[in-house]
Amino acid sequence: MSIFRVELKKVVDDSYEIEVGRSLAEKLADDLAHGLMDSRSRFALITDSRVEKLYAEPICRRLLDLGLKGQLFSFPAGEKSKTRSTKAELEDRMLEAGYHRDCFVLAVGGGVVSDLAGFLAGTFGRGVPFINYATTLLAAADASVGGKTAVDTPLATNLIGLFYQPRKVYIDIDCWNTLPPREISSGLAETVKHACLADSTFFEYLERHMAEIRAVSPDACEYIARRNCEIKYGVVMRDERETGLREVLNLGHTVGRAVEVLSGYRLLHGEAVSIGLAAQTALSVRMGYITPADAARVTSLLEQAGLPVRIPEYIDRNMLVKKLYTDKKVRNGRLRFVLQRGIGNVVEFSPGVFAAEIGESTVRDILLAMP
Ligand SMILES: NC(=O)c1ccc[n+]([C@@H]2O[C@H](COP(=O)([O-])OP(=O)(O)OC[C@H]3O[C@@H](n4cnc5c(N)ncnc54)[C@H](O)[C@@H]3O)[C@@H](O)[C@H]2O)c1
Repeated sequence: MSIFRVELKKVVDDSYEIEVGRSLAEKLADDLAHGLMDSRSRFALITDSRVEKLYAEPICRRLLDLGLKGQLFSFPAGEKSKTRSTKAELEDRMLEAGYHRDCFVLAVGGGVVSDLAGFLAGTFGRGVPFINYATTLLAAADASVGGKTAVDTPLATNLIGLFYQPRKVYIDIDCWNTLPPREISSGLAETVKHACLADSTFFEYLERHMAEIRAVSPDACEYIARRNCEIKYGVVMRDERETGLREVLNLGHTVGRAVEVLSGYRLLHGEAVSIGLAAQTALSVRMGYITPADAARVTSLLEQAGLPVRIPEYIDRNMLVKKLYTDKKVRNGRLRFVLQRGIGNVVEFSPGVFAAEIGESTVRDILLAMP
């Protein structure tokens, strides 16, 4: 018998820049001209059918003018496309077009595009670099930063994927001008979540400036885009792989994801998270971590943002309880929740542990009592 030891200790530097600004396509072209992707000159621009005409085609033309080679690959817009089969279809189209592992992927769009294109980049040719060009508030606030990539399956959202960091993220606030108001509101759920879990001053800012933000006022939008990144990164830099602290970013997502799937994606991601945040505050009140008055401030801010805080009538609440068990925080078959402590903080149940088991009957009581 022989035993060989394969020494593969690695020091990895996955650091990258997030650039927040307006009309960043020119900056992207400039960065590429100055070696952002080293010697790689072939790009696969991945986008969806709505963003294609608005932003992806002009960006594609700009990169071709620069002398880069590449083409645009588009898929039908919407969460229903975030599947293994869309990923496989895009991969097949890239292979047919002669793409090899010397290319790079450029994701132009919202969270669906960045999750799908990032996952594809992480596995195409065993991994090619990618860039995120975020065009929604939700992608800016959350999806485009942090390196989580995934697709949905019929049973649950985001369970099949990779941690795979982009080479650079562009957050182009001008793109928010073409977002339908419902998408702006959806993006604000993750913004409210960040304020709830990390920063009471930011929460107060949102209370005072919600109308301006919803009207896409540039200063307010630039501020919230930056603050979202700072808060998310404060967490991700300390726990990239979600072994402890990063779980705090799941605030509101246990119920949120279950509601999202059970709605058959009638609810947008942020709308589902908003309902999940409302459920989480009710649980936090029950456990004594937040006062009813502060819980009411959270639901009122969500409503100010144009978000739902009630479980839709078409969702069966007992089914909802069952669906909670598909959450990735479940351990040994038990439900685990991140809970808010006051405004701007979360509960640390023991050193480094930010999610706690809560019995099914307590959770059921809360969900049945919710409006
Ligand atoms: N990876 C992560 O850490 C993370 C975090 C939060 C959410 N997510 C994922 O993000 C997704 C939701 O993101 P989303 O809300 O950006 O969804 P999305 O990408 O589906 O975009 C929403 C809609 O807006 C359209 N759109 C995009 N940009 C536009 C623009 N500038 N103008 C007009 N229309 C535009 C899209 O075509 C789509 O129809 C979910 O799949 C969720 O699971 C991932």
